[in-house]
Amino acid sequence: MRSSSSLSGVKLGTYYVVHMPEPDDFDFWRERARGLIQCDVPPDRIAWVEPGGSGDLFAHGKRRMPVPPKDAPPVRANRRFVSLARNAALHSDPERFALLYRLLWRLQANPRIMEDKADLDIRKLEELDKNVRRDSHKMHAFVRFRLVEDEEGGEHYVAWFEPDHHILRANAGFFMRRFSNMRWSILTPRGSLHWDGETMAEGPPADRSDAPSGDPTEDLWRSYYASIFNPARLKIGAMLKEMPKKYWKNMPEAALIPELVAGAQKRESAMVEKGTLEFEERPETLAAIDKAIHACRKCPIGQLDNHAVMGEGPQDAALMIVGEQPGDQEDQQGRPFVGPAGQLLDAHLEKVGIDRRTAYVTNTVKHFKYVQRGKRRIHQSPGAKEIDTCRWWIESERAIVQPKLILAMGASAARGMLGKTVSITKVRGEPIALEDGSELWVMAHPSYLLRLDGPAREEQARLFDADLAAVKERLEELAG
Ligand code: URA
Repeated sequence: MRSSSSLSGVKLGTYYVVHMPEPDDFDFWRERARGLIQCDVPPDRIAWVEPGGSGDLFAHGKRRMPVPPKDAPPVRANRRFVSLARNAALHSDPERFALLYRLLWRLQANPRIMEDKADLDIRKLEELDKNVRRDSHKMHAFVRFRLVEDEEGGEHYVAWFEPDHHILRANAGFFMRRFSNMRWSILTPRGSLHWDGETMAEGPPADRSDAPSGDPTEDLWRSYYASIFNPARLKIGAMLKEMPKKYWKNMPEAALIPELVAGAQKRESAMVEKGTLEFEERPETLAAIDKAIHACRKCPIGQLDNHAVMGEGPQDAALMIVGEQPGDQEDQQGRPFVGPAGQLLDAHLEKVGIDRRTAYVTNTVKHFKYVQRGKRRIHQSPGAKEIDTCRWWIESERAIVQPKLILAMGASAARGMLGKTVSITKVRGEPIALEDGSELWVMAHPSYLLRLDGPAREEQARLFDADLAAVKERLEELAG
C-alpha cells in the first residue's frame, strides 16, 4: 500500500497545484495523474484547478510537477475506469479531477474496487458518467440549426445550445459527421464550434442573442414532429425528464406540445384500434431488454410461433459480435449462435484466438423468421424494414454494453448497425467509425460459408479468418 510519506523524493507536506489547460482535457489529467502516482503523491496533497478557477487559494502549492523515478512501476488502470473517467472528466463538478485521482490512487492498491457497487467513489464516478452521457444525448437530440445568410450571401446554419457539462468538444465529431455538407456553428455559453464543410474551428463562449431565433425551416420541423409524435408514448413526467423545459425555447416543434398533448388521448385510442402502438421508453438494463423483446410484436416476425433470443456475454465486453437473427436451434434453445452457423463461428474464433466468452454475442433481429415446410422451419432473411424496426433493441444493448468494437457478420447485421445497406466486399477489413466513438467491422456471415463447398469454401474461410484476425489485432491495440 502506498503511504503519504516520501518514497521518491516528494516530501511529506508538499502540496501540488495542477492547472488544467481546459476543463475537458482528460488526456492532460491522465498524464499528470500518472506522474503524480508514480511519485507517490497522495490525493490530499493535490489541488486540481480548472481554467478560471481559483488557483490563488493554493498559492503556496508547487506548480512544478515532481519527476517520477526511472524504476517507478507502471500505473494501473482498468478499461472500465478509463472509460468512465473519460466521460466523468467532462462533468461540471469542480471536484471531478480530484475524484478521478483518488480512484486511480486507490486502484493501484486494489484493482477490484471498480466492481464494488457500494463504494461511494465508484458510485459518484458512475453518476458523473451518466450525467455526461445524458447531456450528450440531449445535445444530439435537441440542437436545432437556423438558417442565416453570411456576408457573401451563402447559407450558414447556426444553433444555440446550453449544455450542463463540458461536452461540446467531445461531440464535435458527431455533428461533423451528421451535417458534413452544411456550413454550421453551434454556439454555447461554454464555447462554440464552427464547421465550414472542411475544417472545424473552436471559438469563445457565446450569448443567446448571438444566435438567430427563427427561420422558415421551422415549419418543416413542426410538421415532422407532429407526424412522428406518438401519443401512446406520452407520459408527461417522462417527457419532461427527457426533454426538460429549458430546451423548449430552442426547439420550434416544442410550440406544438400543449396542442399535441391535448389530442393525445384521442389519437392513442385510434392507434390501439389500428394496431400501430409505438415502443415504450428505452430499457436501461439488459434484463429489461430481454423482457421487452419477448413482448415485442412490432413487426410481423414477432407474430410467428417463435421466441425472442437475447444477446449474451459480459455486460462490459469490449467486443460485440452481431449476427442476423436467431435460427431454428437458437429459437429452441434461447441462445444466439448455438446452431450450425454458431458452431462454425466458434471454430473460427478459436482458430484465431478470440475467446467467445469475452464477447457480447447478439443478433440484429431478435426473432427467427421462417416459413413452415411440413415439419421444417425454413430460414427467411429479414427485410430492410424489419431490420430497421428491430434496431431499437440492438441500439439499446449497445448503449448498455458500450463495446469498443462491433463486429457485424453479414449484410443484415451491417444494416442493423449502420441503418443503410452496404456491400460486404467493399467495407470488410476496415473499421467504420461510429458516432459513440466505437468502431464497426463488417465481415461475412458464417452461414455464407456453410452454403459453399470445395475451393470456394476454402477461399471464403481464409477471408473469414483474416477478418477475424484483423479484429483480434485491433482489439489488442484498443486494450493497450
Ligand atoms: N445466425 C445468426 O445470425 N444468428 C444466430 O444466432 C444464429 C445463426
